[in-house]
Amino acid sequence: MITTILGCGTIGKAVLAANLANGGEPAHFRAVTSRPERAELVADEFGVVAGVNARVLVHDADLVVLGVKPHQLTDVLKSVASDLAPGVTLLSLAAGVTSAAIEEAIPGAHVIRAMPNLGARIGKSATSVSYGALATEADMARARQVLEPAGTVTEVPEHLINAVIGVAGSAPAWFLTVLEAVIDAGVANGLSYDAATQMAASTMEATAALVKETGTDPGVLRKAVCSPGGTTIAGMAAAEQAGLRAATMAAVQAAHDRGVELS
Ligand SMILES: NC(=O)c1ccc[n+]([C@@H]2O[C@H](COP(=O)([O-])OP(=O)(O)OC[C@H]3O[C@@H](n4cnc5c(N)ncnc54)[C@H](OP(=O)(O)O)[C@@H]3O)[C@@H](O)[C@H]2O)c1
Repeated sequence: MITTILGCGTIGKAVLAANLANGGEPAHFRAVTSRPERAELVADEFGVVAGVNARVLVHDADLVVLGVKPHQLTDVLKSVASDLAPGVTLLSLAAGVTSAAIEEAIPGAHVIRAMPNLGARIGKSATSVSYGALATEADMARARQVLEPAGTVTEVPEHLINAVIGVAGSAPAWFLTVLEAVIDAGVANGLSYDAATQMAASTMEATAALVKETGTDPGVLRKAVCSPGGTTIAGMAAAEQAGLRAATMAAVQAAHDRGVELS
């Protein structure tokens, strides 16, 4: 079975790296970039066949991972349409391009849409997957095979992908902004950047793990750390007054709405 990553940039390389780190054979993967020097770097780093000639590199693939930017996707697909193997599974990672748009570019295509995130770089993406109209269970199983090494995979109906973008796909940006703000404020209070970064990142990681591992509602855990008259409730009062909750919800909503607008 051959997987061709058509558009092997940030997210394509993360998926490729996760597969190879989990026992995938380099000989079973191909990578396509737009610039020859990038293809050379991918070939050197991962030991896979890589190049800029998409038509040659897709022809023996049973799975083509679409990792180009959303605005390029349908044109790139049309340019390789006659080279795709019959029944090939197309696994699109693009935000804002519906499976229907891909089926319009490649009539009869078996499309699985996925929404990974930055966590894929360390095998910890929270990825969603959705069936296109003609995709089968076999297509889904094949897509899962390359996505699972990069993190958890959750099936959602395609119309909920933009909701996934808000809580997972784009969400590293909100969590990183909160993390940065906590670190900066710690530095303002005298900690070194290294110490503040180490402690704040560990705290964020442990807090998320507590929610996942205990299944406790985040609001219940938060109240449990807010002692009456204490430091944490004083901090929460200031955060609420400054609009932390409203700003975060607005970011999630805006990402969702932008996804809808692009579709
Ligand atoms: N980055 C994320 O965290 C993330 C999360 C979820 C979904 N996505 C989706 O993943 C897709 C890729 O995003 P990205 O951040 O990985 O972008 P990126 O780093 O810019 O990678 C895009 C890749 O496509 C290649 N490419 C451009 N034009 C091409 C063409 N005509 N034929 C073949 N390859 C071509 C580029 O080649 P060069 O290397 O030569 O430039 C590059 O390797 C997007 O659709 C995005 O919506 C990304």
